[in-house]
Amino acid sequence: MKLILQAIEKSAIRIKNAIDVKDIGYSQEQNSSGETQLQLDIQSDLIIEEELSKIASVHTIASEEKELPMLLNENGHYHIAFDPLDGSSLVDVNLSVGSIFGIYDGELTASKMVASCYVVYGPRVELVFAHEGKVKLYLLQAGEFEYVKEIHLNEKGKIMAPGGTQQCWAPYHKAMIDAFFADGYRLRYSGGMVPDLHQILLKGGGLFSYPGASDKPEGKLRQLFEVFPFAFIFETAGGRAIDGANRVLEKETKHVHDTSPCFFGSNYEVSVVADVYGRN
Ligand code: AHG
Repeated sequence: MKLILQAIEKSAIRIKNAIDVKDIGYSQEQNSSGETQLQLDIQSDLIIEEELSKIASVHTIASEEKELPMLLNENGHYHIAFDPLDGSSLVDVNLSVGSIFGIYDGELTASKMVASCYVVYGPRVELVFAHEGKVKLYLLQAGEFEYVKEIHLNEKGKIMAPGGTQQCWAPYHKAMIDAFFADGYRLRYSGGMVPDLHQILLKGGGLFSYPGASDKPEGKLRQLFEVFPFAFIFETAGGRAIDGANRVLEKETKHVHDTSPCFFGSNYEVSVVADVYGRN
């Protein structure tokens, strides 16, 4: 696991350098979900693939930018799913973006997740790693990731990050979000799940939601690369992650690019979601 964390750190430094110097341009290729890929997406994907392929214990990698999982070492046992540059469409407006990693032991399924990690490329580069019951924050300084502190969520927060197209929300979902705002919650939504969830984690709590809606019944965010890694981090930090009714970490994944509705937050807000969705 130490070698995997080091490979993620090396990848993050290389991706940060690519973000800083790369001209922003669209490539002609589309990823497996049909989105036009930015060159930075492809570059970040290749960087992570290269760093992880140096580690003998990594059996398979799966990336948001690759249609199918890729076998690296027959004798390895870790399966790593990653979104190399989440929110890459925000780079050209200079908002924060991130890389997300889910580390699974044996197979790419939620119940086998043993660690997860994300990196935020913002005014500073920070890395959050959840493993063995702890969520740790690191800061990139002078070329090295230095440990800062452990992250714990409060029981209740003040931030609301409501994703999705509002006119496609179910009426009960809209009523629930309206009720949170009526209760004093502040809107904090950049359109990048990494900085939006990082803010909730570091400010002690709140709710990030990306529901199933009429335009996207199964939500937008991908289970293996986005939803499960953050679910693992939120649960380890003392919060919750559900799809409306159930823990997302109990979901089955049929296809590597499956999506899921998701709600991440501190206990109070997610309990409200479970209550509202349980009645609808
Ligand atoms: P992309 O990588 O295509 O920019 O998508 C980013 C993801 C995620 O980071 C974010 O939370 C969500 O899409 C935002 O989606 P909406 O714009 O639909 O709210």
